[in-house]
Amino acid sequence: MKTYKIALIPGDGIGRDMTAAAWSVLQKAAGNRGFILDGTEFPWSCAFYKETGTMMPADGIATLRGFDAILLGAVGWPAEVPDAVSLHGLLLPIRKNFVQYANIRPHRLLPGVQGPLKASAFDILCIRENTEGEYSGAGGRVHQGTLDEVAVETSIFTRKGVERILRFAFEQARTRRGKLASVTKSNAQKHSMVFWDDITRQLAQDYPDVEVTSYHIDAMAARMVMAPETLDVVVASNLFGDILTDLGAAIQGGLGFAASANINPERNAPSMFEPVHGSAPDIAHLGIANPIATVWSGAMMLEHLGEQAAANAVMAAIEATTASGIGTVPGKDRTDAITAAVLAAI
Ligand code: NAD
Ligand code: IPM
Ligand code: MN
Repeated sequence: MKTYKIALIPGDGIGRDMTAAAWSVLQKAAGNRGFILDGTEFPWSCAFYKETGTMMPADGIATLRGFDAILLGAVGWPAEVPDAVSLHGLLLPIRKNFVQYANIRPHRLLPGVQGPLKASAFDILCIRENTEGEYSGAGGRVHQGTLDEVAVETSIFTRKGVERILRFAFEQARTRRGKLASVTKSNAQKHSMVFWDDITRQLAQDYPDVEVTSYHIDAMAARMVMAPETLDVVVASNLFGDILTDLGAAIQGGLGFAASANINPERNAPSMFEPVHGSAPDIAHLGIANPIATVWSGAMMLEHLGEQAAANAVMAAIEATTASGIGTVPGKDRTDAITAAVLAAI
């Protein structure tokens, strides 16, 4: 039988419960659809770091390369390991090494979910550049702790990197409502962001069927709140996409609903699926985190693997659950109860 090798990285905090919930739903969705999800769990996390001094073993990336996909919960336990150590030791190297340059984050209201906005009918697909830009990691600090201290963090935008994410976004817009919003801050950042706008204009020639508009990030933040129904595909740099997608999560009812896929479109390395949210230390031991974001990310994984029927079954089960009122109000239903409802709906 067709078997997909899935690497499971539960990580820290609520990530552990969220991956367990999603994995049980994915297993049930696979059911008798003619394929097997063969999971291997890796304990890589801040707890692992405290034991071993690294977030993952030196051959961690090489190990993961042998898998068809990765399902990740969340990374980070700032009370014990600095975030800059934990994220640069696990999550960010996976995205970069596997050239998962397209981070796809859908924002729409699930049935039964009351968002904070008056608008209820919006369907936004954020496409975030995921390997360079503000997250390049180029820079340093000198004269630490002195009055002469200097910190430099250089954003790196390459033609290859910008062009491929924009093309990816144009292609996505083509399969949807044909509208693309490209987000920069080219009125202030006159090199990298003007470069991005220039490439947007150049590529637009190749996609005459897509209506592309460039926005500044500040105006886009307001638009996502005031007029989200005017947006279809939104493409942005790494940091801008990060911020806009927590905003997207907020307008769709909370971080418990926001899914994400880190895609290697060339398929020459595994892609990774994870919720937008983090390890939520403030609620980590309470059993009340919403697993829907991770379950939805799992549905995106099934879709990426080509198992569209199973992916549709998971999405239908999520929607049946929220439509019945379960999991719609933060903190009202326990993680287990929401998971049980999704499982029952499969
Ligand atoms: P967070 O996303 O973990 O939490 C922000 C807020 O949202 C918290 O109040 C939390 O309780 C709530 N929340 C998050 N997920 C929820 C869910 N499923 N159900 C209900 N409520 C939910 O962001 P943070 O507090 O800034 O970060 C905590 C840690 O996670 C840090 O170490 C951070 O670096 C890390 N982080 C990791 C990832 C990732 O692994 N992809 C993403 C974001 C943050
Ligand atoms: C996300 C997270 C990560 C990011 C952090 C934890 C490095 O916020 O996936 O949105 O900024 O990419
Ligand atoms: Mn984020």
